[in-house]
Amino acid sequence: MKSFLAATALSLAVIGSPLFAQAAPDAIKGVPPSNVSDRSELAAKYPGIEEGSLRPEDPKILCPFHRMLERAGLYDSSKRDQMPLTVSIIKIASYAHEFGCKVVGCGGVATAASGGQLTQGATTFGDVNVEALHKAFGLAHDCGLTFAKGGTTVSNEVRSKTLAALSSRATSEGHLTLQDLEAVKENICAAQRVQNNPVGKTEVRLIYAFLGGKSRGYIDYADVERFLHAELPKTIGEPEAFDSSF
Ligand code: HEM
Repeated sequence: MKSFLAATALSLAVIGSPLFAQAAPDAIKGVPPSNVSDRSELAAKYPGIEEGSLRPEDPKILCPFHRMLERAGLYDSSKRDQMPLTVSIIKIASYAHEFGCKVVGCGGVATAASGGQLTQGATTFGDVNVEALHKAFGLAHDCGLTFAKGGTTVSNEVRSKTLAALSSRATSEGHLTLQDLEAVKENICAAQRVQNNPVGKTEVRLIYAFLGGKSRGYIDYADVERFLHAELPKTIGEPEAFDSSF
C-alpha cells in the first residue's frame, strides 16, 4: 500500500498533477509553466539565501528546497500567523515557480504531501506542514542525505558525511555526475538496510536538474554543499524529475 501511494505521489510530482492544474485558482492557472529566474535577481531579492548570509536555516524542514524558501523569508507571513509552520499548496506552487519549478510539478508534490500529512493528522486541508515532512505519508522515506534514519530534523553529522562522500567522488574541477549522486544515495540506503524507493530516486534527480546538471552534464560539488545548507546555488536550472536513462 505504501509503495502504491509513493508511486501515485511520484507520478503527481513527475508528470505534473492534472487534478492540481484543474483545481488551481486563476492566479496560478495564468502563470507560464515554468520560469527559471535569473540567479542574480533571486540573490538580490532574497539576501537571506546568498553566500555569507547569517540568517539561520530551520532544521525542522527536511526538504532542502523548502528549507531554502523558508530561509529566503518566503514563509515569514505563514510563520507569524500560525505554529506549526503550515503553508498553503497554492503559495508553495507560486514560490517554487519563482525558483524554476513547474507549477503543476511542485503544486502536484505539495498536493501529495498535504494529502499524506492529512492521513497522519499533521496538517490542515489545503496546507503543507513544512516542519513535518517526515509525516507526508507516501512521500517521506528513510536513508536521507541530511537526516538520520527515523530522524525528524536535519543532522549536521549525516549531512557532513554525505558531503564527504560526494566530495571524494568529485573531479579535480569539483564536478559530480548524476551517477555520483545516485551511488552516494544507494550507499546510505544500504548502510541503513533500507530499500531506496522511487521518491528517493526522484529527489536525487531533482537536485541534479536544479543545480544545472541537465544542461551541463555535471553539477558542482560546491553547489550541492550550498543547496543542502539552504543556500542559493551558483548555477540553477529547472528542478524537474526527469528520466535518468539519458
Ligand atoms: C515544492 C514542492 C515539494 C514538496 C512538497 C517536497 C516535499 C518533500 C518531502 C515530503 C520530502 C521527504 C522528507 C522525509 O523523507 O522525511 C522531501 C525531501 C527532499 N526534497 Fe523535496 N519537496 C518539494 C520540492 C523539491 C524540489 C523542487 C527539490 C529539488 C530542487 C527537492 C529536493 C528534495 C530532496 C533532495 C529531499 C531529500 C532530503 C534528504 O534526503 O536529506 N524537493 N521533499
